[in-house]
Amino acid sequence: MVSEAPETSQELSEVLEDLRRHLLWQEEDGGRFLQVDARLAAELRAAGMARLRAQTANKAAPAVAAPPAAQPAPAARRETPVAKPVEAPVQARPAAGPLPGVVEGERPTLDEIRRELGDCQRCKLCSGRKNIVFGSGNPRAELVFVGEGPGAEEDAQGVPFVGAAGQLLTKMIEAMGYRRDDVYICNVVKCRPPGNRNPEPDEVEACEPFLRAQLRAVQPKVIVALGKFAAQTLLRDTTAITKMRGNWREYEGIKLMPTFHPAYLLRQPAEKKKAWEDLQQVMKFFGKQPGQRG
Ligand code: URA
Repeated sequence: MVSEAPETSQELSEVLEDLRRHLLWQEEDGGRFLQVDARLAAELRAAGMARLRAQTANKAAPAVAAPPAAQPAPAARRETPVAKPVEAPVQARPAAGPLPGVVEGERPTLDEIRRELGDCQRCKLCSGRKNIVFGSGNPRAELVFVGEGPGAEEDAQGVPFVGAAGQLLTKMIEAMGYRRDDVYICNVVKCRPPGNRNPEPDEVEACEPFLRAQLRAVQPKVIVALGKFAAQTLLRDTTAITKMRGNWREYEGIKLMPTFHPAYLLRQPAEKKKAWEDLQQVMKFFGKQPGQRG
């Protein structure tokens, strides 16, 4: 039997598109097996960045006259709020439009996403920050941790999870058998909320496309969502973290484990046992024993 050839230009372009995506994937994966058309890959990435740009156009931006460096330093605050309501759900928002990199092949790199973020003025958090806290760690990590937003120490250093909660997170990561720089760590919002308050819906909305693009760039096997903001934002689910935690979920085809935020664990150490059970499920998925590296 004669094999069927694509008959319409529509079919032909679909076949070509498939091939392009495959070639791009090979390039992103190190290009070990195929030579990719670099111009084509650049075009596809540019398409992803154009989409990101369209989604994050300064629709939520306040009138900001001065760059962040010119703003007065905010009053010192604790890294984590004491009265953070664990049960209050993130306000439900409609799903955002198509996100960069959600279409296979449009996979911007972390550097490109960071460049696109620029000296971000897309929401009011820009006025109080010292530094944008984009993310840190292995850009090809199999495991990503997503927190809520930077605290004072993170804001000062421009690095996520380096304060007291961060030290606990680092211990949790190491107890799982990873080094901190094996994994990738980022937050729902990239700028420190003043007075250690929760991020507001418009701030989450402005930052969320960048988080989703980061996850698409890293393409981990597992995401650990730390606390209600990460879990509820990524899953678009207003269920309380106390109910969500410990149950595998899926985010864009990636396994996601919701668990307690380390700041909450500092306030409620008795809950560490539950968080450790959640992390052990992640370790089991990766076939890791406690303290075992590699
Ligand atoms: N809490 C967070 O959610 N993120 C940080 O980076 C630090 C503290």
